[in-house]
Amino acid sequence: MSEERDYFVHESAYVDLPCRIGKGTKIWHFCHVMKDARIGENCILGQNVLVSTGVVIGNNVKVQNNVAIYTGTVIEDDVFLGPSCVLTNVSNPRSQIVRHDLYERTVLRRGATVGANATIVCGTELGRYCFIGAGAVVTKNVPDYARMLGVPARQAGWVSRHGIPLPPPDRDGIMVCRESGYRYRQVQPGVVRCLDLEEDAPLPPEQRVGKVPYRNVKSRA
Ligand SMILES: CC(C)(COP(=O)(O)OP(=O)(O)OC[C@H]1O[C@@H](n2cnc3c(N)ncnc32)[C@H](O)[C@@H]1OP(=O)(O)O)[C@@H](O)C(=O)NCCC(=O)NCCS
Repeated sequence: MSEERDYFVHESAYVDLPCRIGKGTKIWHFCHVMKDARIGENCILGQNVLVSTGVVIGNNVKVQNNVAIYTGTVIEDDVFLGPSCVLTNVSNPRSQIVRHDLYERTVLRRGATVGANATIVCGTELGRYCFIGAGAVVTKNVPDYARMLGVPARQAGWVSRHGIPLPPPDRDGIMVCRESGYRYRQVQPGVVRCLDLEEDAPLPPEQRVGKVPYRNVKSRA
């Protein structure tokens, strides 16, 4: 960390001014942050990440290597972008036609995960804590906690805040996360809520460290 600022920028990265970068954020090798970008606190931009003009990124956002975040993208707190995933900002690009004033808005809500090499077609909204599988192509809005797989991405059940597929509901409609023990319920068709922790509440510290490998949690009865 340098003495003048409370965030870290690797010497190989470019940060165009003015832009806003929050405390504790780390910007690694070969990144480019363009002017008027706003990046929150405690974020990590891995190697070769582009953050274009006007992009807004919340706190504790993790961006893996080789991701370009284009103008028109809004990323809320706690979002995870897997390596080489693709975000877009024009639905019908043509080299001959200038559409700089027509960039489409794509919103990634709090806690969403985008798997490696997935593509998010612009103009869509990814709901809170949704999970986009590796290689999926998202073409429509995604509900909170939805698990989306394939090309085009289709919903394959629900996933907990801890990224664990939720089992079928019991007779009271409750689905229990096998890692955290948090209970979830579909409160109306297509709308899942956590019964033990509000979607905007931070995780308590004891729930923030993974303890069991994914395969082991998945196979729990
Ligand atoms: C979504 C994910 C967690 C699912 O893994 P999983 O729980 O082992 O998968 P499931 O057992 O639920 O698979 C169910 C079915 O979906 C298929 N499937 C699983 N992941 C898929 C994916 N990403 N895309 C398409 N289909 C997928 C499986 O092949 C299986 O098909 P089948 O029933 O015909 O055999 C995993 O595929 C994934 O994408 N993880 C993200 C990894 C990543 O990008 N990490 C970035 C940080 S390094």
